[in-house]
Amino acid sequence: MGHFIPLSVPNFQGRELAYVTDAVSQGWVSSGGEYVSRFEKQVAAYTKMPGAVACQTGTAGLHLAMLLCGVRTGDLVIAPTLTFIAAVNPIRYVGAEPVFMDCDQSLCLDPEKLKSFCHEECRFDDGILIHRATGRRVRAVVVVHVFGNMAGMEAIVDIAVKYGLLIIEDATEALGTYYTGGRLAGRMAGSLGHVGVFSFNGNKIITTGGGGMLVSGDENTLRKAKYLSTQAKDDELYYIHEEVGYNYRMTNVQAAIGVAQLEQLESFIRVKERNFALYCEIIGTDGPLRMLPFREDTRSNHWFYSLYLDLEEIGLDRDALIQELEQRGIQGRPIWGLIHEQKPYRGSFAYHIERAFHYFERVVNLPCSTSLSEKDVEKVAYTVLEFAGR
Ligand SMILES: Cc1ncc(COP(=O)(O)O)c(C=O)c1O
Repeated sequence: MGHFIPLSVPNFQGRELAYVTDAVSQGWVSSGGEYVSRFEKQVAAYTKMPGAVACQTGTAGLHLAMLLCGVRTGDLVIAPTLTFIAAVNPIRYVGAEPVFMDCDQSLCLDPEKLKSFCHEECRFDDGILIHRATGRRVRAVVVVHVFGNMAGMEAIVDIAVKYGLLIIEDATEALGTYYTGGRLAGRMAGSLGHVGVFSFNGNKIITTGGGGMLVSGDENTLRKAKYLSTQAKDDELYYIHEEVGYNYRMTNVQAAIGVAQLEQLESFIRVKERNFALYCEIIGTDGPLRMLPFREDTRSNHWFYSLYLDLEEIGLDRDALIQELEQRGIQGRPIWGLIHEQKPYRGSFAYHIERAFHYFERVVNLPCSTSLSEKDVEKVAYTVLEFAGR
């Protein structure tokens, strides 16, 4: 059968061990230490932002983002249903409620439906957006760049400005993705909202084991993020606290791995692009069995690959394909169960969800690790074609 081909595993071929050894031998293993600030500065520079705040996880960063955007009990926050649940749970952490939004063909939040929700379901009074049916304030929108593919940010930014919404960019999957054309040319995913958050979880394009990073163009927001993530200390000597803080700071050991990983990010992206191109060449990009593209006018980080099955045309079963792959030692995965159908969110407001169901039933993620060889990609792609009888 050959070796097992997992979906997405980390790649440590750089200076990870050297930097971790350095951090440990200096005795800086906790949240003090130079690797944390070095990693922050480097991510800020890479994303062209004035600063960054390193966190324990992407989820912690998203929790802080809610607090920094002033989301509070009783507020509504618009969020996608097609996403990993960690993009949504922080809304509840602060006592607010999600309003679930559909996706467009990019699998990211649909700007058209976002606009019609704001226009048709809400009223806009004195710069405040109120959901008519519940009388609640809609304070923010969480935009996820699904699988490293940029959401339609030109339209989303315009809608957010028009309706006074703060954008929380869940760029956990999209470090390295940026616009190459249009009015946002040169702008990185994560840098387009009020707050952006990256994740360095084990399956992400670069990893620190577990970790996250918050970026913002606003210095006060960055200062507050660091304050809240380090137990809200107003006096370091006497331990005075004027707010409830969190223990969300990244450790120096995590950051040491992060610095080494960031050095390799662009080369990881080149491998991801090359492997995606090979999948596209073998499986194709149109027809009933095809690889879903990344947005035009962007350089995507090509983090996760999506195979689309036209069920009607091809008479294929998604789960049978996943089982077949598994039997051949290949890990495939359906996209996440839609969040508005998960138990904690069944009572939440969901706005005309249609496409998300469509893609949920038809998309299978294929192996995308940067350690994949051409042979591995060929094996996966030809297994898919064989299963489909092509
Ligand atoms: C879309 C999305 N949001 C949030 C997260 C949470 O990040 P973390 O695992 O670092 O908490 C992840 C990844 O795990 C994710 O894919």
